[in-house]
Amino acid sequence: MKSLVTGAFGFAGQHLVRHLLESGDEVIGTYIGDKPDNPPCEARELEITNPTQCNRVISEVQPEVIYHLAAIAFVPEAEKNFDLVQRINVGGTYNVAQAAVDLKEIPKFVFVSSSEVYGKIRPEQLPITETTELRPHNNYCLSKLMAEQVVRKFENTHGLPNVILRPFNHIGPEQRDVFVVSSFAHQLALIARGKSDGVIRVGNLKARRDFTDVRDIARAYRKAAIEGSGVFNLCSGTAVPIDQMLQMLIDIAGIVVSIERDPDRMRPSEVPELRGSFDRAREAFGWQPEYHLRQSLEDTYRYWLEVESERKLASGES
Ligand code: GDD
Repeated sequence: MKSLVTGAFGFAGQHLVRHLLESGDEVIGTYIGDKPDNPPCEARELEITNPTQCNRVISEVQPEVIYHLAAIAFVPEAEKNFDLVQRINVGGTYNVAQAAVDLKEIPKFVFVSSSEVYGKIRPEQLPITETTELRPHNNYCLSKLMAEQVVRKFENTHGLPNVILRPFNHIGPEQRDVFVVSSFAHQLALIARGKSDGVIRVGNLKARRDFTDVRDIARAYRKAAIEGSGVFNLCSGTAVPIDQMLQMLIDIAGIVVSIERDPDRMRPSEVPELRGSFDRAREAFGWQPEYHLRQSLEDTYRYWLEVESERKLASGES
């Protein structure tokens, strides 16, 4: 399958590209800014907010599938700048979908939305299914909801074949350390390498989130591209309190730390618990997560230990 992946060198994108290549697909990944070093697949520059560039790249590539991942993914970043998140998450999706329907052979459009679209979930609405009411409460949520409607629009006007995926929190090696698991794992690795005081700074530890390994999520994206149509949750079905996840990481690191609440990490509007049901994905394309949470946490911690070891070597420290 000839696949174009937008956001191919971001967190989930890297794992998806690896999985597609291992599955024997031909992969073209897009990036903005500097060209990635030693990309594992063909890399093309594409600014998704530029419709002319989208048309040129997509008509040159002629993909059979487009995995559209490029987006602002960090909730607080989206909260600070609606104009930006609207241009990238909504306008960018419009441009990529428009370029897709302009092809003679219209490709399958895999749109990576988010569980955030469910918004202000009430406890009695758990577990979240694909028919749960959508109650937007922040810019990120709004942008993903609007982008889903963009995909629908092209389905209605041009028959764009598509699947909309709503992954819950996904974690694993190579994730930026603004996200909770990576943030805690990186802080622990810094402490373990003697590069920081023994304090971990945290936000709301009472929140409960449904974590899935990014490698399971990447597998779901390809399965959905082949067999999926409609909207699908991708999750583990279990909610873990953030403080419990932190304790597991501390246990994995095997070091003594103290925990300090950082007001800058607290959010103005936060749903206490997110927990989904992946029954629909299991029934439609036989997907279920395989990684255990502990494995994902161990791999993430090990990743940050290696990053910090390499930095130590590069800076010439012993
Ligand atoms: N980032 C961060 N840092 N979050 C913290 C911290 C901290 O120090 N302490 C507690 N938290 C809590 C947040 O308040 C939130 O409840 C939870 O940990 C997860 O935060 P993030 O990892 O930043 O992820 P997110 O839930 O905002 O969004 C992620 O998941 C979505 C799907 O549910 C992102 O990956 C989104 O792009 C994705 O769509």
